[in-house]
Amino acid sequence: MRRIEIFDTTLRDGEQSPGVALNAEEKLQIAHQLGKLGVNVLEAGFPIASPGDFAGVRRIAQEVRNVSVAALARANAKDIECAWEAISEGESPRIHTFIATSPIHMRYKLQKSPEEVLEQAVQAVRLAKSKVSDIEFSAEDASRSDVDFLAKVFSGVIQAGATVLNIPDTVGYATPEEYAAFLRAIMEHTKGIEKVKVSVHCHNDLGLAVANSLAAVGAGVHQLECTVNGIGERAGNAALEELVMALHTRKDQFKAETSIVTSEIARTSQLVSRLTGMMIQHNKAIVGKNAFAHESGIHQDGMLKDRSTYEIMSPSIIGVDAESIVLGKHSGRHAVQQRLTDLGLELDESRFEELFSRFKLLADRKREVTTADLFSLVEEQKEKT
Ligand code: KIV
Ligand code: ZN
Repeated sequence: MRRIEIFDTTLRDGEQSPGVALNAEEKLQIAHQLGKLGVNVLEAGFPIASPGDFAGVRRIAQEVRNVSVAALARANAKDIECAWEAISEGESPRIHTFIATSPIHMRYKLQKSPEEVLEQAVQAVRLAKSKVSDIEFSAEDASRSDVDFLAKVFSGVIQAGATVLNIPDTVGYATPEEYAAFLRAIMEHTKGIEKVKVSVHCHNDLGLAVANSLAAVGAGVHQLECTVNGIGERAGNAALEELVMALHTRKDQFKAETSIVTSEIARTSQLVSRLTGMMIQHNKAIVGKNAFAHESGIHQDGMLKDRSTYEIMSPSIIGVDAESIVLGKHSGRHAVQQRLTDLGLELDESRFEELFSRFKLLADRKREVTTADLFSLVEEQKEKT
């Protein structure tokens, strides 16, 4: 089994979700929970962005232990000095510096030539290295960059001291096979690549962030960047819980594992949702309200016979102790009978049949028939007899 490191950027890229602004206290609360979750690196923020972000990053670096704390900086001296000031008291600090390398970004955004970008990247990494040993360099919009140019930039920053190279799909444009081939080409052409860790950071504009990250695992990368609940700019980032549970559930295929304490996933997801105000869609994989719920009679019957029929992972793995059988209009006799038995409400056959007909009438009016509803149905029956 290969060990894949989880770089969580909920507090930096995730916080860049439109409408989200966490204060230092809230950031710290999430950071402590990310520590319990077992992430390897926690990107605490972008200190130059605002005094509040600087304060939040600083407190996290001072207080959160047993996890590497990273701060983001553009590839310039002012950002790097500021990032370092924010994380210098950390147990295991990392400066994460970046510059765009795609023709589109270099021409329109940076208005710099490729040679100038190469020079700026190398200078930035050199400066960061004079402060701390762990340096991550990201080539923004890497997936739309030229392979030879990118390999040249990466070879330069490795020589300048970078320890992690990140190859982001910044605009979520890549597709899994193409991205994996691109990563392999970059790794083949970069000098000194064996000395560093390779990372990916995928955005979800085409709904492919998780698929692209998993394809990257197949291509041999060492680190995955992601956010809790997949929050982030535009359509968000690769969702931590989906990546972790895909690797965990399909170990046979990926032959890779993470250090994530999966039983902390649901708690972390709820905390992030509550503090950011970003609701989780009901059918969201792993952490959605319906992710482990079964409503149809056929599925419920299968589940009651053997859970493996319709459940590829147990909700308890992510720390959920939920009732997975939801009683509604699609439920069959078996599920209703089982729930009554679980509630200690044993009925003979004729009473059960009468109750089941009233259950169906109620289920047509209500989306979900609850335990309280079942007790009422039984009570009504008692009153009639
Ligand atoms: O999406 C991106 O390219 C980024 C970088 C700063 C890593 O967030
Ligand atoms: Zn990003």
